[in-house]
Parts: sequence; structure tokens; C-alpha cells
Amino acid sequence: MTATQFSMAQLPLSPTRGVERISLSHFRCYEIFSVSLDLRPVVLTGPNGAGKTNLLEALSFLIPGRGLRRARLSEVRNQNSSAPWAISITLNDEGEPLQIGTGLDPEVPESEKRLTKINGEKIKSQSTLAEWVSVVWLIPQMDRLLLEGAQGRRRFLDRLVYGFDPSHAQRLSRYEQVLKERGLLLRQGRFDRYWIEGLEETLVNDGIAITASRREVVGQLSSFLKSQNNAFPQADLTLEGDPEKLLQTRSLLEAEEEMRRLLAAHREQDRMTGRTSFGPHRSDLFVRHPEKNQPAALCSTGEQKALLLSIVMGAAHLLSIRTGAIPLLLLDEVVAHLDKTYRSALFDAILKLRIQAWLTGTDVSLFEELEGHAQFLSLKEARLVSKT
Ligand SMILES: Nc1ncnc2c1ncn2[C@@H]1O[C@H](COP(=O)(O)OP(=O)(O)O)[C@@H](O)[C@H]1O
Ligand SMILES: [Mg+2]
Repeated sequence: MTATQFSMAQLPLSPTRGVERISLSHFRCYEIFSVSLDLRPVVLTGPNGAGKTNLLEALSFLIPGRGLRRARLSEVRNQNSSAPWAISITLNDEGEPLQIGTGLDPEVPESEKRLTKINGEKIKSQSTLAEWVSVVWLIPQMDRLLLEGAQGRRRFLDRLVYGFDPSHAQRLSRYEQVLKERGLLLRQGRFDRYWIEGLEETLVNDGIAITASRREVVGQLSSFLKSQNNAFPQADLTLEGDPEKLLQTRSLLEAEEEMRRLLAAHREQDRMTGRTSFGPHRSDLFVRHPEKNQPAALCSTGEQKALLLSIVMGAAHLLSIRTGAIPLLLLDEVVAHLDKTYRSALFDAILKLRIQAWLTGTDVSLFEELEGHAQFLSLKEARLVSKT
């Protein structure tokens, strides 16, 4: 069924969870900005440079990490301002208010540290955010995600995993930190055996746990996509890498044992190459187009976009039904690239999902079908309103 086939009686109810107010200070092109919303999907329009992507970027700071532009936190500050940037977002979780504030730590504005408060309480680790909110996005910069190196796909997958396993973010950042420390120690040549064994132990524990979480999410998402019957390609996902191979045939403990042995055995090789030759930092998310029976990288640009959209929509759907976090979906400049059939299928899927999706575009007429079912925010207007 497409959105155009909905009769009013069949229309799904509005979402019951989402953003109710967003306030920005000294954030990107916004000096002081505030807007109130209801929980329906949001259509954000405005000319190029109006601040649409910046607003989505603010929402992307609701999960751990550096937001959808992967910006340095100091870059985010409004260039005409000397005050640190801050975001304050009021969410509604089926009637329960939730307040999340985040920004550049005002006590150390020159640092790259983000200070985050949930309901007024400072949180120690960003990973706590993932217990409350999940944010999934598709943005124009991801157009080449299926063509380019594995790092982008790993990051994409890891962000999805945060929603299912909030401790994943903390494990990953510790793993990456310790990976660097091990590399440094090996380069120095002389090192204490217990010291390197200690570092490798962390890599083993976190590395296998990271792999297990990724495998779990990829497995769930791939079977979920296969069960879906909509206009989007089903997308066949597999996770490929050495730790994944271990976990195919071994228990977690056995895989840890093997990774411990491999890291120790490859110290000399790793010292020479300057890279750690074994671990989840080398894994890749492999995507196939099942109907075409082709790897995604060989598919046309349009087909790749449809595959990504299918994955992102599937992930948002799964997160909304399998986790307690408030699900948000950000689709930046996606609609303009879809033909009418896909567009209708997308609107249909969003309304049925009952999540607050944020859709941007320069041409409001493309969102006509959503009239009455979404709230329309024209950014020029909103910014004017915020000044009165
Ligand atoms: N740190 C910053 N300070 C001030 N302006 C910024 C900053 N970063 C980006 N901008 C400006 O924000 C404007 C809006 O950007 P963007 O949200 O990407 O627009 P669009 O509506 O096309 O998505 C751009 O004109 C850009 O120059
Ligand atoms: Mg933009």
C-alpha cells in the first residue's frame, strides 16, 4: 500500500515519542534559536544555507559521538560568537518529559570535551545517551558509503549498534584508545611484557565483545529486512573480518583465547607495519542487493541509495520495537532524489512506523502527501519567529 492509498480511517496514529522543543545557542549558523514541535514527523524546508542540516546535526548530538558531520566540537561554535555552543532538547516519551542538554564544556571551552546532562544530571559517559535516545540518519555525505573504504561502513554500523547495546560506544572508544597505546609501545621497541599483555587483554575483551554486538545487530537487521515487504530493496547484510570468522565456529571464550594468542604472536609484525593486524578495527559491513544478486558497490547510484534507505528505515524500525530508547530518524535531502513511487513508499513507511522522522528539502511541494500528517517548518520563518 502506498501513502496515497491511505484513507483517513486507516491512517496510523501520530507518534507518541519524540522532540517537543529544541533550543540552540551559538550553534553553527544559529545564535539563539528555539522552536516548539508536536510529535509528528517534521518536514524542514528552506533555501540552501538556511540551516536545515545544522538543525539535524544538533539532533545527531543526542547519541554518543561527534554528530552527523563528525565535526571537531570547536568548529560547531557559531563563528561570530565567543560563547561555547549548547543544545537543549525536550523530548516526550509517551507523556514523560525528558530533558537532554549537551554542548562544549564551558569550563574548558578549548577542549574537545562535550558536557552532557540528562534531566539536569551530568552524565559521566556519552554512552548513557544511547539508553535514552536512538538517532539514525541518512545524509548526502553517505552517498558513497557503499563504494568507499570500510571505515565509513564500520562507523555507520557502530552507530546503529549503540542503540541496541549502549555499552558498545564506551567499549569502542576504549578499544581505539588502547589500540593506539599498543602501537606506540611497539614502536618504542622496548616495553614491559606485563604492560603490553595488559593492553592486549583489554583489546581481547573489548574486541570480541564489539564483534559479538555487531554480529548480533547485523544478523537481526538482515533477517528483519528479509521479512519486509515494501518498495525498497531488502538489502542482504554480512559482517566480514577475522574476529567474525572466529565467532562463527567458536565460543566467546575460545575466540578470546585465540585473539590473545594472535596479538602476542604478531607483535613483531605489527611493530614493523605500524598496524594491529587482527581485530574488529579491520572488519567490514558487506551489503548485497539480493534481487540483483550483486554486491552493493556494483549497483547504480540510485540503487545504492535505495539500499541505504532500506537499511536505515529497517534499523529505525527495529530500534523502535526492540529497545526502550526514543527513536528519531533524520533524512537529509533524501526525498528530492526519489521518484514518486519511492517517495510515496517512504512517506507510507514513516507514518506506519510512528516515529518522529525529520525530512529536509528545498522544495516543499515534494512533501505534499504528508500534509496533515506531518508538521511543516520553514526554516526562514522559524528563525524569524525565534527572534520575536
Ligand atoms: N560554525 C559556524 N558558524 C556560523 N555559521 C556556520 C557555521 N558552520 C556552518 N555555518 C553556516 O550555516 C549555514 C547553513 O548550513 P546548513 O545547515 O548546511 O544549510 P542547509 O539548509 O542548506 O542544510 C551555512 O551557510 C554555513 O556557512
Ligand atoms: Mg543541507
